[in-house]
Amino acid sequence: MKILGISAHYHDSAAALVVDGVPVCAVQEERLSRSKNDAAFPINAIEWCLDHAALEPADLDAVVFYERSMLKFERVLTSTLCAFPRSWGAFPHAIKNTLGEKVWVRGIIASQLGIPRSRILFTDHHASHAAAAFLASPSRRAAILTADGVGEWATLTVGTGERRADGQTDITLRREIRFPHSLGMLYSTMTAYLGFKVNEDEYKVMGLAAYGRPTMIDQVRRTVRQQADGSFTLAPEYFEFQTSAARSYSSKFIDLFGPPRDPYDPIDLDSSDGRRFADCAASVQRVLEDILVDIATRLRRETGLPDLCFGGGVALNGVANARLLAEAGFDRVFVPSAPGDAGCSLGAALYADRIYFRNPDRDVPDHPFWGPAVDASHLARAAREDGQAVEELGDAPLIERIADELAADRIVGWMDGACEFGPRALGHRSILAASHEPGMRDRLNREIKRREDFRPFAPIVTSEAADRFFDLPPGGARLARYMSGVFPVRPEWRPRLGAVTHVDGSARVQVLERDMAPRLHALLEAYGRRTGMPVLLNTSFNVAGEPIVTQALEGYMTYRRCGIDVLVGGNTLVSKRSTAASLKESGEWSSNSVAASTVG
Ligand SMILES: [Fe+2]
Repeated sequence: MKILGISAHYHDSAAALVVDGVPVCAVQEERLSRSKNDAAFPINAIEWCLDHAALEPADLDAVVFYERSMLKFERVLTSTLCAFPRSWGAFPHAIKNTLGEKVWVRGIIASQLGIPRSRILFTDHHASHAAAAFLASPSRRAAILTADGVGEWATLTVGTGERRADGQTDITLRREIRFPHSLGMLYSTMTAYLGFKVNEDEYKVMGLAAYGRPTMIDQVRRTVRQQADGSFTLAPEYFEFQTSAARSYSSKFIDLFGPPRDPYDPIDLDSSDGRRFADCAASVQRVLEDILVDIATRLRRETGLPDLCFGGGVALNGVANARLLAEAGFDRVFVPSAPGDAGCSLGAALYADRIYFRNPDRDVPDHPFWGPAVDASHLARAAREDGQAVEELGDAPLIERIADELAADRIVGWMDGACEFGPRALGHRSILAASHEPGMRDRLNREIKRREDFRPFAPIVTSEAADRFFDLPPGGARLARYMSGVFPVRPEWRPRLGAVTHVDGSARVQVLERDMAPRLHALLEAYGRRTGMPVLLNTSFNVAGEPIVTQALEGYMTYRRCGIDVLVGGNTLVSKRSTAASLKESGEWSSNSVAASTVG
């Protein structure tokens, strides 16, 4: 049975294809359209998935949309009408937004793909999150927690999943918290108040939180009130997201926390305002963690299950995830590589396969590499046409050579195999660099990433060496498989891991097992033989404001215009240093050409 899953029209659209119960491919629209967080109907992603599997739309048994758009429309309509006349200004915007495209999804899919409407199915938004978290995990029975901004009405659900011995699958979401009461909206409101982009920059709030102290917990607790049963409500007088498209926090929110940050003002952590913003971030972060830990602890007690599968955008919060693992009583916590709405495309397809069609249970391969593969021949051709020196090396010499380059503090663009599904570079589209020098962080920020100084870079380490450098609790390596947990760097290593240790001594480490990315694992070992530390800085292969590179050519163009020294695509290596050397050999050496080849 061939099932296409689609998520679209809100944030980060994607498509995923499941054939005979197993994912075949999945990709976010932004990786193909090159428009960051592209929310459009993912026609490029759908076409690529069908091409990849050599299918025509008519071959599909079902197309599953990741939420029930009519219910979502009902929620938007009800919320704006309930808040009348306060919501009068927002009403046309809300209606246009939902009526424009979002309601008539069945018609859009039927006309775009040319398939009968009867083959188009819909899942609940949080069922899609739950399926993405549970069915892609190796767990056979697990408690399930989902949390995000909002889907149709639900913003948080708890339940259980079971892959039964008879091959059937159950997912039961027992309880939910409904809009406007939402942990995701609480965090996004603080994100907006701190001058960052909602639905995009929430991780900046988490990074900033490490610089602050949770001095405003009482104020945050006034905006979110917890009940005796662990559920919570947002106090409506502090929020405007339910009634206004223009601003998500109210003037009462400003009375509580002070004037909001202008997005164009830099954050100066030496100023009183800068410290206040960091304290706001630390306070909302702490309250979010406390509420999640409380809900998960009750869920553990209620279900008696040792595994937790956690999905939804809130599951991108690695600090909260680490606390769930440490404090809620679960032995293992699974967060998929794409816990947000993009991952719902895969979740919806798996949900339809197992629950709607009652197809037998299948193991889902435990890796995040479901996107387009890099074609090294494209890289070689583009680089040669551009007059660059190109080398083709076998696996072993390539890895030794790149380990030398990294040990000599050169920055490497690394493209290998199929690209990652989800927001993080997990070893196939990464910028790699030495992890020991704080100066490397500044260099990456200055020459490539151009992001705020307070944001940390993440390390990647071999699974064999992880415990030596990082203080991982039981289950920590599993959570770190997809970079989903923030853990302490062991104090004795902090001075020697200066480029990847955050101000509070933590790191959002990826623990890499050999099977998941064998070439990168070999590279970490080769680097370890040179430096004594099989730990590299690993950041996504993109520059500020752009999606992570997908194709070899995108990697090459990024390499040419920023401070990456060496580019690897498969077994092809392009290096600015070798370009300079080859120009010298051919007699074309000049100060101009050196400058051009060095700066790119
Ligand atoms: Fe969601």
